[in-house]
Amino acid sequence: MSQSDLFSADVPALAAPAARAAELRATLNHHAHLYYVLDQPELPDAEYDRLFQELQALEAAHPELLTPDSPTQRVLGRVLDGFAPVRHAVPMLSILTETDTTPAGAESFDARVRRELDLGELDAPVEYAAELKFDGLALNLRYEQGVLVQAATRGDGETGEEVTQNIRTIKQIPLRLLGVDAAVLEVRGEVYMRRDDFEALNERQREKGDKTFVNPRNAAAGAVRQLDPGIAAQRPLSFFAYGLGEVLGWQLPDTHAGVLDALQTMGVPVCEHRVVTFGPSGLVQFHQAMAQQRDALPFDIDGVVYKVNSLALQRSLGFKTREPRWAVAHKYPAQEQLTRLNAIDIQVGRTGKLTPVAKLEPVFVGGTTVSNATLHNVFELRRKGVRVGDTVIVRRAGDVIPEVVGRVASAALAPRAGASAVPADSLPSSFAPREPYVPNFRMPAVCPVCGSAALREKGGIDYRCSGGLFCPAQRKQALLHFAGRRAMDIEGLGDKLVEQLVDGGIVLSLPGLYTLGVAKLAALERMADKSAQNIIDALEKSKRTTLARFLFALGIRQVGETTAKDLARHFGSLDRLVEASVDDLLAVRDVGPIVAQSIHTFFAQAHNREVLEQLRAAGVHWDEGEGAAQNQGPQPLLGKTLVLTGTLPTLSRDAAKALIEAAGGKVSGSVSKKTHYVIAGEEAGSKLDKARELGVEVLDEAGLTALLSG
Ligand code: IVH
Repeated sequence: MSQSDLFSADVPALAAPAARAAELRATLNHHAHLYYVLDQPELPDAEYDRLFQELQALEAAHPELLTPDSPTQRVLGRVLDGFAPVRHAVPMLSILTETDTTPAGAESFDARVRRELDLGELDAPVEYAAELKFDGLALNLRYEQGVLVQAATRGDGETGEEVTQNIRTIKQIPLRLLGVDAAVLEVRGEVYMRRDDFEALNERQREKGDKTFVNPRNAAAGAVRQLDPGIAAQRPLSFFAYGLGEVLGWQLPDTHAGVLDALQTMGVPVCEHRVVTFGPSGLVQFHQAMAQQRDALPFDIDGVVYKVNSLALQRSLGFKTREPRWAVAHKYPAQEQLTRLNAIDIQVGRTGKLTPVAKLEPVFVGGTTVSNATLHNVFELRRKGVRVGDTVIVRRAGDVIPEVVGRVASAALAPRAGASAVPADSLPSSFAPREPYVPNFRMPAVCPVCGSAALREKGGIDYRCSGGLFCPAQRKQALLHFAGRRAMDIEGLGDKLVEQLVDGGIVLSLPGLYTLGVAKLAALERMADKSAQNIIDALEKSKRTTLARFLFALGIRQVGETTAKDLARHFGSLDRLVEASVDDLLAVRDVGPIVAQSIHTFFAQAHNREVLEQLRAAGVHWDEGEGAAQNQGPQPLLGKTLVLTGTLPTLSRDAAKALIEAAGGKVSGSVSKKTHYVIAGEEAGSKLDKARELGVEVLDEAGLTALLSG
């Protein structure tokens, strides 16, 4: 049945409700997979909703047609009193962990495997499947006749807990496997929370003054074990499969990699970062390559896992008590460590927000040495019961700012001065504040930088410096934000330079940046003529931008990158936005009263409008209407997926992405048959090869410009 059949309104009434319901289920499940797993939606949301409602109506009229794999069954179940125990048909084992983070970790595993298999020096290297060790919670998904019937946690490995109704709310997890109706197929994998979802969840908790979570693993574990599925559904979870449990009536592939490929084809999420490789050198290479990418991944990993690829060899290697001999986890440095909180400083942010910052005994965490970490706000600090002198847990993962996530009560765990830190892996997820708690830190009454009054809005959480751009700290942050890669992208305008420009009274406002000359810059300390010229060039280049970037760069409170894009798309021109009323602003997607008020207040102020004029007079420009796609303006790339690779001659990666999105297109990170164009610049890599292999059209920047102009 083709899509046009599905959308046509003249489906004969009740001709075959059962057939129609089956067809709707299949279509909705297919599109949910495209949307949630492949990130390549093909159906407008409204169409999806329409089909969903049709299925709901059909099921309401014919309850006998309701099946457990129906997408309407992702709804919330009832609040439970507790979890039912589930005895695993095949025990859920753990893996031996190689804590030596050097190549020796991989080498000793390979040596053990070869010894067990009686391989001599002349025998060929062993074939391995290498993948990531996800830092979440193990889960067993039981499919019978291809339909998800039960989800269970690992528990003690023999018996876990039934968490089916919470797991059903994870949209990435298929309720029905594609093309498989085996009697039993148990999929095992890790349920986890992405870092951005975790940050957003904690931010929401912080705003509500609620308890925050220590790390994504704890947040995920809490969500999976929520007795109230309504709460579970608000904690965004994700899933990656890494193996199988009981299997009946399905022909196993020969290799572990084959199993993962098969699961992927069935619509189960499988992580793309995996390889099949040979011998210890291949394992070491993977370990190192992933260490490099670790920070850039959207989720936490605590190591990699090596598995003997052949299932036949796995069987002959067998198990040693609770661990398979054919697999090992090879760790990375921990992302949480204990250290001493030496002092608490106050940092002044771009919008004047005063943040308590922990001054720490330097500690190696998440791959770097950390001596400062955020404590977020004074209320959270108190909730956690943190005091100067305490032993605290520091977390640093990805490009997220290091933070103090709690304190430990036990003096036994406290690292002595100069002693190596204790990994915080095995710590509990929450830390009871000391009883009674007497804080030894207070928020200051004045801004520590400019001396203006520090005020807190009634009912608010944050204290703010009331000095505005008079405050050098705010001015510095405003300039750094303006120059940021995702804002005006002024290369070379970093911390040190901004510090000199502000402290020297050289730049007093954003437009002041564009009046800098080479001579003024070159006169600064440690600034060669050439670097000065580079800055001038970067400033010049930054003048060609997009409305969305420009709006984001202004640093309007409550306006992040996404809102800036939405505003640009909605209004299409700066003048229309400046003139917009609060009601006009409320019509923009995802803009609520607080955001609308903040934007309106910003543009109502004469000095802000003056800044806009001065920036435009300095030559900052964009294509008016460039982002107005939603309301007006053509969308030549609507429905098209593009992939960017290599360095383009004039457009940065972010600028190219913004232009494509403004034209209705989507930028994807990997090339597939569904990719319409690959835009390749200098030093394009494997994506270009893949495009050629698949016959996807490859264009250069000029080609992209031509596409954009329709
Ligand atoms: S395989 C028989 N693969 O690590 C082997 N486990 O101690 C079963 N984990 O709790 C596990 N990523 O949840 C395997 N790629 C991966 C994994 C992985 C994370 C977790 C798993 C288990 C623990 C093993």
